[in-house]
Amino acid sequence: MTTVLVAGATGSLGSLIVKNLLERGADVRALVRGPSKDKLPTHPRLTPYVGDLTDGAAALQPLVDGVEVVVSAVQGGPEIIIDGQRELLRAAERAGVHRMIPSDFSINLHGYGYGINVLSDLRRRFADEFDSSTVARTSVSIGAFPEYFLADVHEILDPVAGTFSIWGDGTRPIDITTIPDTAAYTAAIALDPKTAGREVHVVGQQLSMLELRNEVEAASGRRWKLVRKGTLRDLRAEIARRQFTASSMFEYLALQYQIAMFDGTASLRDVRNADYPDVLPTSVTAYLAGSGAAHFAVPEENWRQDEWPTAV
Ligand SMILES: NC(=O)c1ccc[n+]([C@@H]2O[C@H](COP(=O)([O-])OP(=O)(O)OC[C@H]3O[C@@H](n4cnc5c(N)ncnc54)[C@H](OP(=O)(O)O)[C@@H]3O)[C@@H](O)[C@H]2O)c1
Repeated sequence: MTTVLVAGATGSLGSLIVKNLLERGADVRALVRGPSKDKLPTHPRLTPYVGDLTDGAAALQPLVDGVEVVVSAVQGGPEIIIDGQRELLRAAERAGVHRMIPSDFSINLHGYGYGINVLSDLRRRFADEFDSSTVARTSVSIGAFPEYFLADVHEILDPVAGTFSIWGDGTRPIDITTIPDTAAYTAAIALDPKTAGREVHVVGQQLSMLELRNEVEAASGRRWKLVRKGTLRDLRAEIARRQFTASSMFEYLALQYQIAMFDGTASLRDVRNADYPDVLPTSVTAYLAGSGAAHFAVPEENWRQDEWPTAV
């Protein structure tokens, strides 16, 4: 039986990675911060360890002794993604851990360079740590989570205005994978020794923005006016403008993901879904018919008689 340590085990993605690893028969250790420890389920093959990545490699050592694979699904700034994960990697090296899946779970980070996306830069800098490590890196790339891509932060769907906004011509396929599907693939990849030292690309569905709008209209039963916000050149200019004026990176981060998706540099290559045939990813249609329907909700205070919703 493979023993896997999951860091970020109480997060949106990490909690589902734990669930999938247990379903696949793994012994799972979970690194949890003290205040979050009650969020973990109880299971005979799940062992919680209370700690923090910032505790340092020596403190993390007992967590990884006897572990074959480390999976990190933590979220945060450089102190977590670079410094914290580095401490975990150092502990893993001393413990003779075979592989580590760092907290990437993104568009194809290596399709574009530094300076395009602040969070990708952190993940690439941490990837460099493996060049001199005895632990093999396995990176999992999945494109965008629809749970975030269709949320307010991406400024694509506006249920109040009834608009679906795009940059560029909207015809290039983009990569969409739900959080539960990402977790299912990650558990399968964590237990697959052939993935050592590899970038593994898996995806729920590839479709263009115009096709995504059709899916949204079909699922919601409403018309969503297409707003063409500008060319990709205009998008780059908008990112630069926001970087200059922003009080927080969250004002331009979503657009930094979008530019790399829409110009194709972040597209997944060599998609390996076929290596994991027991993972049956959710289609965009099924996602929007289920939990994704929440993206269409108009806040009650915005309901206006005769104006909304408009049937397709
Ligand atoms: N491709 C996409 O569209 C997309 C979108 C969103 C996220 N992601 C990626 O998915 C991954 C997971 O994100 P998420 O949304 O699941 O994050 P999340 O829900 O915020 O969970 C983060 C986890 O990290 C833990 N954590 C944070 N700091 C820690 C520390 N110092 N020591 C130990 N644990 C720590 C948190 O613990 P607590 O419970 O104690 O806070 C939590 O369990 C990240 O790599 C993120 O970038 C991808």
